[in-house]
Amino acid sequence: MKYALAFIGIIAGTLLTIAMMLSWERPPMASNQIGPRGVGMVEINNPRMEAKLQKANVAPEADPPAEVSGVKAKDNEEWKNIQVLGELDVNEFNRLMGAITTWVAPEQGCLYCHKADDQGNVNWADDSLYTKVVARRMLQMTREINTKWTSHVEQTGVTCYTCHRGNPVPANIWFKNEGSPQAAGMASSRQGQNLASKVVGTTSLTYDPFTPLLAKDANIRVNATTALPEGTTNASIHDTETTFALMMHFSTALGVNCTYCHNSRQFASWAESRPQRVTAWHGIRMVSEVNETYITSLQEVFPKNRLGPLGDVAKVNCATCHQGVYKPLYGAAMVKDYEELRQPNP
Ligand code: HEC
Ligand code: HEC
Ligand code: HEC
Ligand code: HEC
Repeated sequence: MKYALAFIGIIAGTLLTIAMMLSWERPPMASNQIGPRGVGMVEINNPRMEAKLQKANVAPEADPPAEVSGVKAKDNEEWKNIQVLGELDVNEFNRLMGAITTWVAPEQGCLYCHKADDQGNVNWADDSLYTKVVARRMLQMTREINTKWTSHVEQTGVTCYTCHRGNPVPANIWFKNEGSPQAAGMASSRQGQNLASKVVGTTSLTYDPFTPLLAKDANIRVNATTALPEGTTNASIHDTETTFALMMHFSTALGVNCTYCHNSRQFASWAESRPQRVTAWHGIRMVSEVNETYITSLQEVFPKNRLGPLGDVAKVNCATCHQGVYKPLYGAAMVKDYEELRQPNP
């Protein structure tokens, strides 16, 4: 009996040790002071994970520049259905088609967006594949981000690769999530929280902070700005938790601590925040506009199997571009080799 107990003890101990090794980040950690002395504005990260991230976030090499043919895509008589890229030189156009294939559908190739008949003849002008219709809108969206949202993306900008990384569906997307109701009784509604969720760093905070807060005129607040409740300045406990949930997403999406943007002495104070918080502020507005104007409006175009449980299209959040890094691809400026993605839309 005694031995049996000891044996169980040893097994349990071993399992616990393994669980700890798998779930904890082992020291030593690296720390880096990023704010004034004495205010605790220190970035703490794990150098081993950093090495992994560095490897996973390398921009692909650009194709050599195209030789100018002198003929614009819209003047090429063989092409019948150019709506966005008409001003490009024909050779530039072809080079871009090659690049978007590498960025979005390297395994599927041109035929991911272009339809071939049974004999294998491709009708390049045909728009019957939904992927082509989506890709055209994505071209417009990318240009919009690179020209209108330099307050966020600066001159670094984005290409299809920033989000797609060689996958037709980007790795980090979100759908509306009301969650499942739990057992009956007083606790029958989860109020969209109280369930450990990866989205918010495995806390039990609101697991869909995106629907209310990555939206136009969202009120991302914890502190009331007046003494007594008055209109929207009064944040409820639920609003507060949703705000913290969004902040958890910011931190995990960028792979940074809260102090990357805030002075934790006074989270709300802009004067005491780092300039990165202003960049983030513009980012929130950019994401909301991109989702609304370019993605949600594609609702009818996407097939059912691409929609979420509530029937909405997959949308963008901070992680879609950032993928765990403070600047996507560590700030690699891919757009400078594809200036056509920085042109205003016709
Ligand atoms: C991710 C989707 C996608 C992939 C992959 C893709 N294309 Fe396209 N292609 C488009 C879109 C969108 C347009 C329309 C552009 C516009 O309206 O300005 C287009 C237009 C064209 C046209 C002009 C057709 C016409 O008559 O209007 C040609 C030619 C073409 N693509 C060739 C290619 C080739 C060759 C490849 C493979 C190397 C390729 N495409 C891969 C999305 C794609
Ligand atoms: C800001 C992030 C972002 C950028 C930049 C971006 N996309 Fe997308 N793309 C998305 C999201 C989100 C979806 C929706 C995922 C889905 O298909 O369900 C998507 C879907 C697509 C699809 C449909 C794929 C499928 O199988 O359903 C195509 C094709 C596509 N994008 C092409 C492009 C092209 C071409 C570019 C560059 C001109 C581009 N995207 C740039 C985020 C992005
Ligand atoms: C990438 C930058 C960034 C990171 C990281 C970040 N925040 Fe924020 N935070 C912001 C921005 C921007 C706002 C203001 C949003 C607005 O006004 O639309 C904000 C707002 C807040 C507020 C509301 C302040 C008020 O006015 O009531 C609190 C509280 C807060 N953040 C806490 C946190 C916590 C806790 C973390 C870490 C888990 C964190 N933040 C991580 C950028 C960031
Ligand atoms: C369309 C892609 C895209 C999306 C979506 C996006 N970002 Fe960014 N972000 C960028 C790019 C590109 C840069 C680099 C700009 C530069 O070179 O200074 C950047 C830079 C930043 C920086 C500055 C980092 C620094 O150290 O200077 C912060 C902070 C930031 N983003 C926060 C956010 C937050 C928060 C969200 C979500 C609300 C978000 N981003 C969504 C593309 C994106």
